[in-house]
Amino acid sequence: MTHTPLAAYPALRLRRLRQADWIRRLVRETVLTPADLIWSMVVHEGEGEIAVPSMPGVARLSVKDCAKAAVEARRLGIPAIAVFPHIDGSKKDSAGKLALDPDGIVARAVKAMKDAAPEVGIMCDVALDPFTDHGHDGIIEGGKILNDATIEVLVAQGLMQAEAGADILAPSDMMDGRCGALRRALESAGHQDVMIMSYAAKYASAFYGPYREAIGSGKLGTGTVENPGDKKTYQMDYANFEEALREVALDIAEGADMVMVKPGMPYLDIVSKVVEAFRVPTFAFQVSGEYAMIKAATANGWLDEERAILESLGAFKRAGAAGVITYFAPVAARMLGA
Ligand code: PBG
Repeated sequence: MTHTPLAAYPALRLRRLRQADWIRRLVRETVLTPADLIWSMVVHEGEGEIAVPSMPGVARLSVKDCAKAAVEARRLGIPAIAVFPHIDGSKKDSAGKLALDPDGIVARAVKAMKDAAPEVGIMCDVALDPFTDHGHDGIIEGGKILNDATIEVLVAQGLMQAEAGADILAPSDMMDGRCGALRRALESAGHQDVMIMSYAAKYASAFYGPYREAIGSGKLGTGTVENPGDKKTYQMDYANFEEALREVALDIAEGADMVMVKPGMPYLDIVSKVVEAFRVPTFAFQVSGEYAMIKAATANGWLDEERAILESLGAFKRAGAAGVITYFAPVAARMLGA
């Protein structure tokens, strides 16, 4: 590929190809369609919808409404849904025991959605944070988030999700070795078709704030030695680039079928590099804080909502992503004419 112009101005005028909609459409390099979207959805144990104040337009859905949403996803041409549980604070404990409950909210939501719309893929987060009273993704001992002990629980959680009918397991905890452990467990349990999309390069980010409100994981820890107030010992330092490539390489070697970069928009450099370096299906997560920023600006009339949403999602395609996990999925699919 050469970037040397074959002619020079005035023979070459790049604006010729931008002069009208028809020619812009004709030379467009990437397209966003509903098939690029994974709908990020929050489920709760009660009835009805509960609005999430920091994410206008997003509500926690009941199991019944999740099933309806799955039917809507099918109608809109959205291939998959990523489901996240909101757990009542009183049911949480320090080990996140409820994460393993085969009759818990995640299992029930997965079953209801697969019953209602079996053609829609269902993805489950493999991580303990919705279920732990301290909000961390792993088991804590003496102020340390234990890696190997956490993996044992994650494997049991992943198997439970696969039994419930999940199509994709998405380990989001950033423990070392969890993709390999999950893959081995899935193989030996007869779930060889269950896919793994690893949150391979996931950064310790301020942009997850609204999600914590959505799933009710509250403030992290106490910020003490016993209970760290951030996730920096397992999620990545946002200053790092090379490390993201090592993380992705490892997860692929361990058997991840697809990888993810998270957050999305501030990390497009990572998305682009991962796509170029590994040529495996690479997804980006447009996280809760990105959603909230766009909604806040559009609510004030500072940005045009439709244009901001479609541009933010289209940027992921331009960076080479296979698709985007986003809370805008149904809204965007409708904007795209579905
Ligand atoms: C938990 C998890 C998080 C998100 C997805 N899975 C939060 C975190 O790691 O602290 C973030 C989603 C979002 O912000 O939209 N492992």
